[in-house]
Amino acid sequence: EKGGYDHFMLKEIFEQPRVVKDTLLPRLPLDQDEILLDGISLSKEDIEKINQIYIVACGTASYTGLVGKYLVERISRIPVISEIASEFRYRDPILDENTLMIVVSQSGETADTLAALRMAKKSGAHVIGIVNAVGSTIAREADDVLYTWAGPEIAVASTKAYSAQLCAMYLISIKIAMELGKISVEEFRELRDELYAIPKKIETILEQSDKIKELAYKYKDSKNVFYIGRGLDFAVSMEGALKLKEIAYLHAEPYAAGELKHGPIALIEDGSLVVGLLAQEELFDKTVSNIKEVKARGAKVLAIALEGNTEIEKTADEVIYVPRTHWYLTSILENIPQQIFAYYIAVGLGHDVDKPRNLAKSVTVE
Ligand code: F6R
Repeated sequence: EKGGYDHFMLKEIFEQPRVVKDTLLPRLPLDQDEILLDGISLSKEDIEKINQIYIVACGTASYTGLVGKYLVERISRIPVISEIASEFRYRDPILDENTLMIVVSQSGETADTLAALRMAKKSGAHVIGIVNAVGSTIAREADDVLYTWAGPEIAVASTKAYSAQLCAMYLISIKIAMELGKISVEEFRELRDELYAIPKKIETILEQSDKIKELAYKYKDSKNVFYIGRGLDFAVSMEGALKLKEIAYLHAEPYAAGELKHGPIALIEDGSLVVGLLAQEELFDKTVSNIKEVKARGAKVLAIALEGNTEIEKTADEVIYVPRTHWYLTSILENIPQQIFAYYIAVGLGHDVDKPRNLAKSVTVE
């Protein structure tokens, strides 16, 4: 049932090219300059009325919201609040009929996410669910559902479901931008071509898994690990650190690179590992200067960078390269090495990767 892989998690990591195709391609016909969002009832007029967007979820699913915030605000100029459901539901958030609420859930059964959905519906907001489990409670109760076609995810730690959620977020955010006239047909075609190229690019990252495994074994005894980046890289750092905590039980912190010197850099010492995320071309130099600061304090640095940016080799101890794509789509590619790295650290430390201690696949109580 594991298809020859040692664990479900590894199998699911390797399924991602297929998952991405299934989630994206049927919605991106090549003979039309349109995104076909089956299950979404919002008209152009409805979209024009939206004055704010909430993206609410828990854990890994909530990091889809951080990516969504960057994308929607930068292109469509609608304010987006990305929030975890357990906070959202108890703080009397401001919602009205012109609010679009997007909830994200693999299981479709997460108690806090469901409670957030119900609050939003009560206030008259329109709720879209990005959901993996067909017919789940969130799928049934949301006004609209955009399914992620990841298939059943067995490993407790989410991998392929998150990649599929990112795909769904790319589609919704591009759709909103198109309806608002914020991107041209040419720009849309360029993004569509890049989306079509993502599965092959994921394959080229999967082909590097032996190298990533070696790095994981080399650094598995690190005392503490920081994941740092700016912008979309910062959003991706959240997921990298969570994977390491939950399956490898290593203390890992995601941090906005520019915020390090406001406190946490005090923790950097010999034996610290810093994973530097560098897929935002315009922020490359800024993050590199933060990487130099941690190097000077004794950290080892593993960089995840775009192919061709070899100058990082002068600063980082190790570099994993990911293929170039449109800036809009870097997050999905950049996250794959993080998954493989966490997986092999957990294997190297002898942990039960598919069933980490204290965790359940579906959190149906708050
Ligand atoms: C982490 C992980 C969890 C879930 C979270 C939400 O690997 O799997 O953080 O993302 O519990 O679950 P869903 O998406 O089912 O609502």
